[in-house]
Amino acid sequence: RMLKRQMPCCGDIHRLNAPLLAIYESLIPPEEERTKQKQILALLEKLVCKEWPKAQLFLYGSCANSFGVSKSDIDVCLAFNEEINDKAEVLLKLADILQSDNLQNVQALTRARVPIVKLMDPTTGISCDICINNVLAVINTKLLRDYAKIDARVRQLAFIVKHWAKSRGVNETYRGTLSSYAYVLMCIHFLQQRRPAILPCLQGMEKTYSITVDNIECAYFDKVEQLSNFGSPNKETVAQLVWGFFNYWAYGHDYANSVISVRTGSIISKQEKDWTRRVGNDRHLICIEDPFEISHDLGRVVDKFSIRVLREEFERAAHITQYDPNPCVKLFEPY
Ligand code: GTP
Ligand code: MG
Repeated sequence: RMLKRQMPCCGDIHRLNAPLLAIYESLIPPEEERTKQKQILALLEKLVCKEWPKAQLFLYGSCANSFGVSKSDIDVCLAFNEEINDKAEVLLKLADILQSDNLQNVQALTRARVPIVKLMDPTTGISCDICINNVLAVINTKLLRDYAKIDARVRQLAFIVKHWAKSRGVNETYRGTLSSYAYVLMCIHFLQQRRPAILPCLQGMEKTYSITVDNIECAYFDKVEQLSNFGSPNKETVAQLVWGFFNYWAYGHDYANSVISVRTGSIISKQEKDWTRRVGNDRHLICIEDPFEISHDLGRVVDKFSIRVLREEFERAAHITQYDPNPCVKLFEPY
């Protein structure tokens, strides 16, 4: 029985492959969404440029990291070439400028953890959040996008995991569960750890891309088109990977001692990072190291209640992928 628990018969798992791939396909945004995003960006650029001719706009988050599902909001970073001390002032000014054009629901949220201006573009129906000088987010967006280019299974796995997390209500940082960004890092780490590996550790290779942002050196190998065969010795299907992912987080991960680290492509110890006790609100109950801001634990939002919810959801998902006669319905059942 034990053995069965750990290694489902391959036939069993393969039954899941076609339906999971179908779900993945249904989540991919159609090409016209890209066109609409570019349209909004061009409009914003035109408006922003009048006020701040040297500022630049960048897309980040799921609209640019290739892990965005259809109908996502878009995240935009307004980057100045200088430090902005009073972001609230700039955001209010920005809201003012945007308001006067025909954009809707323009709102400056100056007191949020990441202060933003929110708006909706009525011609495309797309909502948009604009933040200021969040250049690290633009860089980690590129890192995620580069990882996604290496092997098709990266996007397949991450789309399924994100879809599961949203369906099950465990993608809500304000309620103590994890961000989409955290889930994608968990997927990348998992694929780095497969044997044979499906993903390399780009930050451990020759640095072909390097930029220093907020005193943090962000450098890694970004000529990923050279790595398009990297994962091919590993023949696992998305079904096996989804099963393996949930099993890892349900039964394989050492929550007490381990930190997952995409930066090193391995597990590191909480001890080494000094993440062993609660400091302020950071409890480190599940530890996911940001690839560039390495003092940043993306699991910091998780508290003693939500960690139980999360772990129960991982166990539920592992159980369903393995035993349920109708896993593709059950796995994504609204909570
Ligand atoms: P969805 O909108 O849920 O599809 O995903 P997303 O990829 O846009 O993710 P999310 O809204 O969680 O994060 C947006 C971007 O913010 C990420 O892609 C990162 O580039 C950046 N980011 C950097 N640090 C953090 C962090 O601590 N939490 C979150 N949520 N985002 C971060
Ligand atoms: Mg987003």
